[in-house]
Amino acid sequence: KTWLRTIAALTMAAVVGGAAPAWSQEIKAKLGTSLPDSHPQTMGARKFAELVEQKSDGRIKIAVFSNGQLGSDQQMQAALRGGTQEFTVPSTATLANLDKSFGIIGMPFSFASEAQADAVLDGPFGQSLLDRLPAVGMVGLAFWENGFRNLTNSRRPVERVEDIRGLKVRTMQNTLYIDMFNGLGANAVPLAVTELFTALETRAVDGQENPYTVVHAQKFYDVQKYLSTTGHAYDALVLVASGKFWDRLSESDRQLLREVAREATLYQRQTSRELNAKLREELVGLGMQINDVAPEERERMREALQGVIDKHAAVSGADVTEQFRQ
Ligand code: PAF
Repeated sequence: KTWLRTIAALTMAAVVGGAAPAWSQEIKAKLGTSLPDSHPQTMGARKFAELVEQKSDGRIKIAVFSNGQLGSDQQMQAALRGGTQEFTVPSTATLANLDKSFGIIGMPFSFASEAQADAVLDGPFGQSLLDRLPAVGMVGLAFWENGFRNLTNSRRPVERVEDIRGLKVRTMQNTLYIDMFNGLGANAVPLAVTELFTALETRAVDGQENPYTVVHAQKFYDVQKYLSTTGHAYDALVLVASGKFWDRLSESDRQLLREVAREATLYQRQTSRELNAKLREELVGLGMQINDVAPEERERMREALQGVIDKHAAVSGADVTEQFRQ
């Protein structure tokens, strides 16, 4: 196979006067994540890189930089748009700063299950969101899972909306999440996840909200005693490529990356779900106290957030909100 390709490449090079065809070119790319190697965000990224290298016979090499080595979510998105970094996997919440429609995924208490989230994200609605990314300098390859978010804090057990009152809670740098936690009576403090452990450790903030997988990978159990199963929002991650990088790829390489992204998605979601299912017990073993939030208390939280839900439905736009609801 390789020698056939070499002959074909030489022939092509002769025909086009020395320029090597796109498919014979070596491609090197950087993929940055914000979480450590033990988190499914980075595990999925490494699987994607490994499969791309394998399926391109070693021609496309993607180096994965985990744990915010290349910067915060926002900095990496800026690097993709500028063409100095090729891939990243942000939350839909931080992508919403570039295209408001993405905010709708984080609407409080919207998804009943992971299966429902898959159906929405893998269907026409999810595709319509991905189709918006080229306009902001990126190409969306797949939705990955961060999961249902739970509240943790170092001050007190939280089982009811009243218990949240007055807690200083770090949120993602996104107005929906800021409004959500202010709406629940907390004082929301937006911060990049790369600065979060220190903020919790120094007690600059009392709490934060993330799925079990993030609480575990970031070792928040060392600085947070209480975890409440608020499940207040489902959070998806998006595997995105730099538009400038994408424009330079051949059509067959784009095809290869899209196919591999689909394969890596199955692995990423499965890994995320398996870990989430077992980490609850592990976090208890590591000293956390877990308080289950009853369905009627979740409903009270949702009611407290009705104004925020209405406001952000308008922010995402009437059309997008209507399609999402359907
Ligand atoms: O909390 C956050 O910042 C997000 O959950 C994540 C995925 C860790 C970073 O985008």
